[in-house]
Amino acid sequence: MSQAIKLDVNNMMSDIIGARGISWSAVEEITEDLQKAHNAVQGNRGKGMQGWMELPYNQDEILNDIEKSAARIRERFDNFVVLGIGGSALGPAAVHQALCHLHYNELPPEKRGGPRLYIEDNIDPERMAALLDVIDVEKTCFNVITKSGGTAETMSQYLIVLDALKKAVGDKYKEHIIATTSKTKGFLIEIAKREGYETFYIPDGVGGRFSELCPVGLLPAAVCGIDIRGLVAGARAMDERCLTDDISDNPALLEAALMYLTMKWGANISVMMPYSDSLKLMSDWYAQLWAESLGKNTTLTGERVNVGQTPVKTLGVTDQHSQLQLYTEGPYDKVVTFLKVENFRKTTNIPHGVDDIPTIAFLGGKTHNQLIEAERQGTEYALYRAGRMSQTITLDEVNADTIGQLLYFFEMVTAYTGQLLNIDAFNQPGVEESKVASYAVMGFDSEKHSMKREEMKSKPASKDIYIL
Ligand code: PA5
Repeated sequence: MSQAIKLDVNNMMSDIIGARGISWSAVEEITEDLQKAHNAVQGNRGKGMQGWMELPYNQDEILNDIEKSAARIRERFDNFVVLGIGGSALGPAAVHQALCHLHYNELPPEKRGGPRLYIEDNIDPERMAALLDVIDVEKTCFNVITKSGGTAETMSQYLIVLDALKKAVGDKYKEHIIATTSKTKGFLIEIAKREGYETFYIPDGVGGRFSELCPVGLLPAAVCGIDIRGLVAGARAMDERCLTDDISDNPALLEAALMYLTMKWGANISVMMPYSDSLKLMSDWYAQLWAESLGKNTTLTGERVNVGQTPVKTLGVTDQHSQLQLYTEGPYDKVVTFLKVENFRKTTNIPHGVDDIPTIAFLGGKTHNQLIEAERQGTEYALYRAGRMSQTITLDEVNADTIGQLLYFFEMVTAYTGQLLNIDAFNQPGVEESKVASYAVMGFDSEKHSMKREEMKSKPASKDIYIL
C-alpha cells in the first residue's frame, strides 16, 4: 500500500511543546467518540451525501469517457475555460497548480501539450471582459460546471459565453460547450439536453466541495495532461488507510481527533501553510472544505451551537515575512499545518558569487530545496519555542498519486470532524440567506424573493454619521 504522504503531529502534543499542546490522555479520553465517528462515516459510505467515498472505486467507465473527450479537446482547442464557483472551481484550480507547470499558460503549445486553462470563478465585471480580451472564442472550449445548475455566477457567465460564441461561430457554438452537472436536478441539465451539449455528471451524493475526484475536477485535469487515474488511485490508497478505527493507523482519524480537541479548547483558526508554490491553491480548496463543512449553528440532534474553525490560507516561506509574527506572539488561537514536499521536481542550485560577505556566502553551493526546508524547520521551531501547535503533512513528491491521497485525506478528516462535532458536514444552509438576498436585490420575480425584498426594507437605514 502506498504511503507517500505522512502526518507528523509531534508539535501538537503537550509532551513536546508544553502546556498548550494536546495530551495523549485527552485523545484517549475520546476513544469511544472516535470509534463512533469512524463507524458513522464508514457506515454511511456511498449513502446520502457521502457518495464521494465511492469515487475512488466506481468511475472506470467515466474515466474512459473523460480521457476520450480530453484527447479531442487537446487536439482541437487552444483554450479550455472552466466556468464554475466554489467546489466547482477550487479543486480544478488546486490540482492544476499542483500538477502542471507553474507558468503553464505561458508555455509554448508544444511544451504545454494541451490548451491553456482559465478558471473563471468570479463575476467581477472586468474579469469576463479581460478573459475575452485574451482568448479567441473560436478556439476555446467552455466547461460549465455547476451541480445545482442554477448558480447565478456560473449561469451568468454561461449566458455571456453563449452570446459570444453564437456571434463568433454561429450554429457551431454547441461544439464549444461541455456541461458538468447533476443528472437528475437543476436547470443546466435541461439546457444541455435541449442543446445537445456533451455532458458529464456529478453524482447525487457528491457535494460541490467533495467533487474534485469526479468529472468536476477530472475533466479539466485530463485536458491539461494530468494523470487522472493516478489521482483516483491515490484517493483509493488513502481510503484504504482510513478503513481502520485505530488512530495509530488511520491518519485522517488521528488528525480529526486532534483538530476536534483544538476546537474544543478554543483554537478557532486553522492555518494551512504549504511550503511549495505548487500547493498554494490547495489552501484555498481546504479553506472551503473546512469552513463550509464545519461552520454550523445546529447539531444533528437540534442543539444550538456555533462551531467551526476559520481556515487561513498562507504560503511558506512568503508569509513568514507577513504573518509569522502573529502566529508566534499573538493569541493562542491557531493550529498551523505545514505541507512539506520531500522531493521537489526540480533542484535549483544557488551559485557562489559573494564569498567575502559571510551573511550571503553561506548560501553559495546550497540549493533552494535546502533553503525552503530549512526555513520550514525554522518556522516550526519558532512555533515550538513559543509553545504553539503545528503539524506537518509530508508529500514524498507532488504527483497525481500524492495529490489524490491528500485530497481524500482532508475529505475524510472533515467527515470525521463533522461527526465528532455532531453536525451535518455536507450542507451549507448559511450560504442560502446571502443568495436569496442578492437575487432579491437583482429583482428575481418570485414570491420568496419579493418577501425578501420587503424584509430587507426593515433593516435600519444607514446613518450619514457612520459614513466618511
Ligand atoms: O460546496 C458546495 O456545495 C458549494 O460551495 C458549491 O460548490 C458552490 O456553491 C457552487 O455550486 P454549484 O456547483 O451548484 O454551482
